[in-house]
Amino acid sequence: MIDPDVLRIETDLVVAALYQRYGLDFRQYSRASLERRLLGLVEKLHLQHVTDLIPRLLHEPGFVDRMVNGIAVNVTEPFRDPECFSAIRQHVFPVLRTYPYFKIWHAGCASGEEVYSMAILLKEAGLLDRAQIYATDINTDALARARDGIYPVESIARGEKNYLAAGGTGRLADYTLQQYGSARFDSSLRENMVFSQHNVVSDEVFGEMVLVMCRNVLIYFERELQNRVIDLFQRSLVHRGFIALGAKESLQHITGGAAFECLDRPARLYRAI
Ligand SMILES: C[S@@+](CC[C@H](N)C(=O)[O-])C[C@H]1O[C@@H](n2cnc3c(N)ncnc32)[C@H](O)[C@@H]1O
Repeated sequence: MIDPDVLRIETDLVVAALYQRYGLDFRQYSRASLERRLLGLVEKLHLQHVTDLIPRLLHEPGFVDRMVNGIAVNVTEPFRDPECFSAIRQHVFPVLRTYPYFKIWHAGCASGEEVYSMAILLKEAGLLDRAQIYATDINTDALARARDGIYPVESIARGEKNYLAAGGTGRLADYTLQQYGSARFDSSLRENMVFSQHNVVSDEVFGEMVLVMCRNVLIYFERELQNRVIDLFQRSLVHRGFIALGAKESLQHITGGAAFECLDRPARLYRAI
């Protein structure tokens, strides 16, 4: 059993190395999750101490990406929390119809299931052709999977129920080509998607978004960092733009949260006033 004080000191040292050497800022990530992830990485790499990560981080080319990919939790699924998608259909789609062309940003898209889910609903609403969808994450492995759009068939099968709950009108599987246990989303869904590495802690705004979806990312950040990231999103939105957060996240105690109205509380959907 590791002494919590020692773990805290070791975590501080790794965080300092990431920041000073690579400018990667994990200083305001929630401690409990960060420590758990670092311990998981130590075990996976058969190391003894969290600080054993530091020499590899400083001297081994490419190790920093492995570390970042190991720290970031990227659990996701198609049509996760379907009430969020149905609220978007109800409140955001009518506004999207008024635009000849619009942009949506999925910040922290992980392996991309959320992005394909949105593209499917846009397609069913006849809006996909007008959309430019930006899908970003810090995790390069997850982004590569998102770009490929290939998932286990079981994950698509599990998503069918949520797809219907989100207001889908067909079958999720019909949007995929299935072969040897894998399901690849139709390339027509991917046409207007741009995947790119972007760190919401330190990188700049993505301009002119009508909707920013950032679900289950802020939950890993301390409050002050949440404030900063929401400010970034606010600056990325068009006038009266929308923000969708994860089921356990909210703008309630966020500085700047008063600049948004809540359209649907359980769905965590907000609109700039
Ligand atoms: C739990 S997943 C959420 C995926 C999806 N949005 C969902 O709700 O199912 C959290 C994602 O946030 C990403 N993430 C963590 N810190 C980030 C940062 N500073 N900038 C961008 N993405 C980040 C992680 O790499 C991970 O893929």
